[in-house]
Amino acid sequence: MELCYHLLTIHILFCLSSITLAANLFNSKTDASALLSFKSHISSDPFGVLSSWNESVHHCQWQGILCGKRHPDRVTALLLDSKQFTGSISPSLANLTFLQRISLSDNQFHGIIPVEIGYLNRLRFLNLSMNFIEGIIPSTLGNCSNLQVIALRYNNLGGTIPPNLVQCKRLQAIDAGYNFLTGGIPPELGHIPQLRFLALHVNNLTGSIPSTLGNLSSLMILGLHQNNFEGHIPDSLSNLTSLLEFFVNQNSFSGFPPALSNLNNLLELTLHQNRLSGTIPSSLGNLNNIQIISLYENKLSGFIPAAIGKLHNLWAFDISENNISGEIPHSLFNISTMFNLGLFFNRLEGTLPFHFSDGCPNLQYLLIYGNQLTGQIPASISNCSALTYLGLDSNSFSGTIPASFGFLENLRLVSVASNKLEAKRSQDWIFLDAMANCTSLQFLELDNNKLEGTLSSSIGNLSTSLRKISLSSNPISGNIPI
Ligand SMILES: *[C@@H]1O[C@H](CO)[C@@H](O)[C@H](O)[C@H]1NC(C)=O
Ligand SMILES: *[C@@H]1O[C@H](CO)[C@@H](O)[C@H](O)[C@H]1NC(C)=O
Ligand SMILES: *[C@@H]1O[C@H](CO)[C@@H](O)[C@H](O)[C@H]1NC(C)=O
Ligand SMILES: *[C@@H]1O[C@H](CO)[C@@H](O)[C@H](O)[C@H]1NC(C)=O
Ligand SMILES: *[C@@H]1O[C@H](CO)[C@@H](O)[C@H](O)[C@H]1NC(C)=O
Ligand SMILES: *[C@@H]1O[C@H](CO)[C@@H](O)[C@H](O)[C@H]1NC(C)=O
Ligand SMILES: *[C@@H]1O[C@H](CO)[C@@H](O)[C@H](O)[C@H]1NC(C)=O
Ligand SMILES: *[C@@H]1O[C@H](CO)[C@@H](O)[C@H](O)[C@H]1NC(C)=O
Ligand SMILES: *[C@@H]1O[C@H](CO)[C@@H](O)[C@H](O)[C@H]1NC(C)=O
Ligand SMILES: *[C@@H]1O[C@H](CO)[C@@H](O)[C@H](O)[C@H]1NC(C)=O
Ligand SMILES: *[C@@H]1O[C@H](CO)[C@@H](O)[C@H](O)[C@H]1NC(C)=O
Ligand SMILES: *[C@@H]1O[C@H](CO)[C@@H](O)[C@H](O)[C@H]1NC(C)=O
Repeated sequence: MELCYHLLTIHILFCLSSITLAANLFNSKTDASALLSFKSHISSDPFGVLSSWNESVHHCQWQGILCGKRHPDRVTALLLDSKQFTGSISPSLANLTFLQRISLSDNQFHGIIPVEIGYLNRLRFLNLSMNFIEGIIPSTLGNCSNLQVIALRYNNLGGTIPPNLVQCKRLQAIDAGYNFLTGGIPPELGHIPQLRFLALHVNNLTGSIPSTLGNLSSLMILGLHQNNFEGHIPDSLSNLTSLLEFFVNQNSFSGFPPALSNLNNLLELTLHQNRLSGTIPSSLGNLNNIQIISLYENKLSGFIPAAIGKLHNLWAFDISENNISGEIPHSLFNISTMFNLGLFFNRLEGTLPFHFSDGCPNLQYLLIYGNQLTGQIPASISNCSALTYLGLDSNSFSGTIPASFGFLENLRLVSVASNKLEAKRSQDWIFLDAMANCTSLQFLELDNNKLEGTLSSSIGNLSTSLRKISLSSNPISGNIPI
């Protein structure tokens, strides 16, 4: 440089261009040597991907490398997913200062995420998911002000979530699920305006959900399930009007999240296996698009709100293992999309609808055992033609077992055990003949009822898939059919 300043004007242009040339040559060599350092940290490359990484080929032609248009020698992307690499991630990556994308997912990288990654201020996309990376999420990632995606799912990362990720104002996705992260959710994460995807599930996170997350007006997916979170889910989340999926199951949340009814776009709501108490708010009936509502294993009481029956996209509704009382709104059997209706182990009473219309063509799981239901098992239940798992046991159903079960060809499990079902006349046993049609039947549980008389030899015509038939604790007499 100094030399150039002392030259005549006419030479200045030449000098500047040779400086640029030298800089490019230098950086180009830096990029090649940084990549060779990256290669040297890989101890196993079973597909020979890195054999092309040699001096006889320009580094921009090396497999997995993309270079820039304006700076044709500079590496902009390192795309080496699913190569079965073993090794660590070389800190020399930090010398690839034009890098925009690093994608090394689904390999067997161990070691740490180099703190030097913070020097990559052009970095937009980082995917290190599905490796064995340990250590912490380096807070220097907060220096990568252009980062849009951080994907670290399925690694062995510990430590806390660095609050200064908030400096990455363009972040759209943070996925750190399936690690060993501890500590709380930094309230700062609520101030990343474009965040659409926040997945921190299956970690060891504690504390409550910071109310600032209610500021994430673009958030579409919030996955916090399988951690050790506690406390009430904050009211402010009612402002997350873009939310499609809200997973907070398997934590220790208490109360019931209020004002969820604002979340018009919500498709999936999983709150199961927490310590929620109180009643199921009827405002859930406002979630017009909802497909999954999962509330099982909580401490909920009160009734099933009739408004649930209005949810005509509902696919799974599971409130099992709570303390829900009252009747089952018959409209629940009239939701044509319903696939899984789980109401078992509650204190439900009343009857099943007498006329199952053709309102439940997709219902495969009807598990309502362990309640106080009465009346007959309606013959029209066979209108739910997809039924596969039918658990009606441990209730107070009376009358006979409907022969129309024979129309349910997909049945695999039928349990009507521990009810007050009768078979006084031989025609009351016709259901057993009819069920020869259920060619997939594996479990038939009839025990602990009032089934009388002799067993018909048609029992031998039941499915060859049958693994268990239980008949104990019934006043059955005579011989066991050959
Ligand atoms: C360098 O890579 C090229 C392209 O894959 C390959 O044809 C060549 O054999 C390699 N050379 C060495 C010395 O490995
Ligand atoms: C990175 O670049 C610096 C010079 O800018 C150099 O000293 C260092 O050795 C380089 N590291 C690697 C691994 O290439
Ligand atoms: C990261 O990589 C994994 C595994 O290849 C992939 O399933 C996932 O979709 C990627 N994440 C992003 C945000 O692209
Ligand atoms: C990150 O930025 C801070 C200041 O903003 C700076 O001191 C530090 O050296 C940077 N670290 C890296 C790894 O980029
Ligand atoms: C979670 O943390 C607790 C202590 O806080 C510890 O006992 C437990 O082993 C941790 N679980 C995992 C999966 O790291
Ligand atoms: C962010 O959330 C906090 C707490 O809920 C709230 O006080 C604040 O007004 C919100 N800020 C913005 C910009 O919405
Ligand atoms: C929702 O957001 C608005 C505007 O940012 C704010 O005034 C209001 O308090 C928020 N609601 C809740 C329940 O936090
Ligand atoms: C279930 O709710 C009733 C009131 O409806 C209450 O008396 C009972 O203690 C509750 N049972 C449990 C196990 O919480
Ligand atoms: C089921 O839906 C049909 C048609 O939408 C309606 O006529 C009927 O009353 C509904 N039955 C119940 C129990 O909601
Ligand atoms: C519903 O069930 C009843 C009684 O089993 C039957 O008469 C009726 O035809 C069924 N309707 C449909 C649509 O299958
Ligand atoms: C068995 O299924 C056939 C049609 O798949 C039906 O015609 C017949 O009535 C069924 N038998 C009984 C006893 O349900
Ligand atoms: C069992 O099936 C055989 C042939 O499939 C039939 O002849 C016989 O009548 C059936 N037995 C009873 C008791 O339904």
